[in-house]
Amino acid sequence: MHFKLMSVVIAFLSVKLSLAHSGFHFGWSGSHGRNGGISFGLSPQFYQFSCPQANDIVMSVLERTIAKDMRMAASLLRLHFHDCFVQGCDASILLDDSATIVSEKNSGPNKNSVRGFEVIDKIKSKLEEVCPHTVSCADIVALAARGSTVLSGGPNWELPLGRRDSRRASLSGSNKNIPPPNATIENLLTFFKRQGLDEVDLVALSGAHTIGVARCATFKQRLYNQNGNNQPDENLEKSFYFGLKTMCPKSGGDNFISPLDFGSPRMFDNTYFKLILRGKGLLNSDEVLLTGSVEKTHQLVKKYAQDEGLFFEQFALSMIKMGNLRPLTGFNGEVRKNCRGVN
Ligand code: HEM
Ligand SMILES: *[C@@H]1O[C@H](CO)[C@@H](O)[C@H](O)[C@H]1NC(C)=O
Repeated sequence: MHFKLMSVVIAFLSVKLSLAHSGFHFGWSGSHGRNGGISFGLSPQFYQFSCPQANDIVMSVLERTIAKDMRMAASLLRLHFHDCFVQGCDASILLDDSATIVSEKNSGPNKNSVRGFEVIDKIKSKLEEVCPHTVSCADIVALAARGSTVLSGGPNWELPLGRRDSRRASLSGSNKNIPPPNATIENLLTFFKRQGLDEVDLVALSGAHTIGVARCATFKQRLYNQNGNNQPDENLEKSFYFGLKTMCPKSGGDNFISPLDFGSPRMFDNTYFKLILRGKGLLNSDEVLLTGSVEKTHQLVKKYAQDEGLFFEQFALSMIKMGNLRPLTGFNGEVRKNCRGVN
């Protein structure tokens, strides 16, 4: 028994060494492997030898970009979410339309909404200069999401790496799997559970709305016709509601934007949860974490509003969990040369 295990370990180590130069990495992973065996898993040390500067390069591009456009931190954090919920974290969202690809960029949740593709391109071209054909676009998106969180004042975490890039996109998957802003709490939980994420992940990850903005089109229903009766959402605090109406008229103005956390729109903190407690969450999907019929999410909103440390800790854990959704590893997928198209 022990001998058998030992020889498997040795075989595994020698494969790892012989492929290290080509950017391959075979890691132990209890959670991905069947029966706790050897599998192609993600690991924080994945680029330790093949591209040790990877994170520094990502961070230097982010620092310069975010200094000019604070919102970009939010946009990059969201990009990772919209990537991971469709076929897993495989950079499918970055693929442009082509002869073989129907881009996810034109889905309902993404069109006129997701941003950050040029920043990913810039990071990729720097990485191709320093470590050619090594760092995947899916890992760049994950690194950019973490870096954006840190640069906005949020938590840091050890980020598992080694995702490979898909050769296909799914427009229908993007339309089906990303939750809409007018979702009920039951809808939200259904979308998250489909990905293997639970109530705790839903509330913690929604806390990403501590930074960034939303277009009038995404919360207009709450202001003018919440339940098909031409009345506003009764959970909206009155002065907040009147303010929003000036930013978001009943007809037109769909692209006017409002901060998701108007208390501290550029700062990654727990103000988002404090605002929800006062009826000042911007999206229906934000407010229903408190007002929906699920006691557990209600309690979590209160806890995170009281304890920023607890929110940060759980946000990091849930980001790792989301970042581990169905990655392509080993011989699956590829490392794209250009994030916008397959090799
Ligand atoms: C729980 C379900 C969620 C819903 C219904 C939702 C919905 C939305 C909507 C409608 C917007 C505004 C889009 C627009 O105006 O075009 C938005 C923005 C944003 N979302 Fe979410 N979201 C959810 C979860 C998440 C998660 C899990 C993350 C990341 C971990 C995230 C991060 C963001 C960020 C940072 C922004 C601001 C983006 C920017 O300013 O460019 N969201 N979200
Ligand atoms: C959410 O908005 C969509 C599109 O406007 C609409 O078809 C749907 O009925 C709305 N859902 C709820 C629960 O209000």
